[in-house]
Amino acid sequence: MSLLEDPLVLGLETSCDETSAAVLRGRFDLLGHVILSQDVHEVYGGVVPELAARAHLQRVDDVVDAALAQAGMGLHDVDALAVTTGPGLIGALLVGVSWAKAAAFALERPLVAVHHMEAHLFGPVLEDPEAEPPFVALLVSGGHTLLMHVPEWGRYELLGETRDDAAGEAFDKVAKLLGYPYPGGPAIERASRGADAGRFPLPRPMIRPGQRAGADDWFDFSFSGLKTAVATLVGTLEETNSLERERAHVAASFQEAAVDALVTKTMRAVDRTRCRRILLGGGVSANRRLRAEMAARLGPDGRVLFASPRLSLDNGAMVARAGLFRLERGERAGAEMSADAGLPFPGLTRRRH
Ligand code: KG4
Ligand code: ZN
Repeated sequence: MSLLEDPLVLGLETSCDETSAAVLRGRFDLLGHVILSQDVHEVYGGVVPELAARAHLQRVDDVVDAALAQAGMGLHDVDALAVTTGPGLIGALLVGVSWAKAAAFALERPLVAVHHMEAHLFGPVLEDPEAEPPFVALLVSGGHTLLMHVPEWGRYELLGETRDDAAGEAFDKVAKLLGYPYPGGPAIERASRGADAGRFPLPRPMIRPGQRAGADDWFDFSFSGLKTAVATLVGTLEETNSLERERAHVAASFQEAAVDALVTKTMRAVDRTRCRRILLGGGVSANRRLRAEMAARLGPDGRVLFASPRLSLDNGAMVARAGLFRLERGERAGAEMSADAGLPFPGLTRRRH
């Protein structure tokens, strides 16, 4: 089925704990967009997969209806559907995938599968037409930390990734250690404001004196050692009854260490590729300290591209936009399409260091 000039794409996202739908006309016209965060997980200090799947199931109809109502459209006006098929929580993904497959079949409209992390790359372009390749991309979410060179959409040269915890996971785990609510990233950022980020020197994993370009960990990340260092520090502060007084300073010191690791590795990618445009995507890219430090170290002759927080966190608009890209390339999902918790990143190749 061929595609109209500026098709109306319905994007659906249910990979983790946000149920979201968007109605996108062409590349930029976001006519409707609803994001429903599941607060049920706050009680448990992290996402409970079974509860996430149930919550998606209960709300997906209403979320799609609300997005269509914002757009002043009905489901029949939609020209194509795009849905996140992975990576993510399998039960959660299946809700969106089943919904989209059924709707596409009933409406006889084309359907396209979207990779969640590729969708994060498309967040910034919805607001900024200049957020186009080539760029160095740092994708930082609750499940992934990827550093890549993107010469063009669809071609992703992986330079580095995390060897253990993802960046967002580290924010969430450290927040838990410090007694802040889930999700941890925004809580740590808030607590850090006005606190002393230099008070507790914490390790910068995979950044060593004498480390050379070409070393196998030159571009890679690791966050579990940093989390352990915070756990040890918290234990020491508890013993002296000083955790309460120092909590915000620990949060700020952790944020500084995490941001330093992310920015240092990204600047290495800038040097390697000679590409002075950096695109930040994923939930952690909402962090203001990260954005500011990246811009400061890149300097005025470079450009840091990122989306507003709403489009940095999980959302249906980025899925619709990534889906449009895939639809324009002629991709269509068949009846065999399904959710895949470990879906490989399409077009990703490992670049030799
Ligand atoms: O992309 P995202 O919404 O969902 C996943 O794909 O995982 O990212 C969620 C992650 C969580 O770990 C959350 O703590 C983190 O992004 N996050 C932040 C901030 N806002 C969200 N981390 C640091 N600073 C923030 N302001
Ligand atoms: Zn995400």
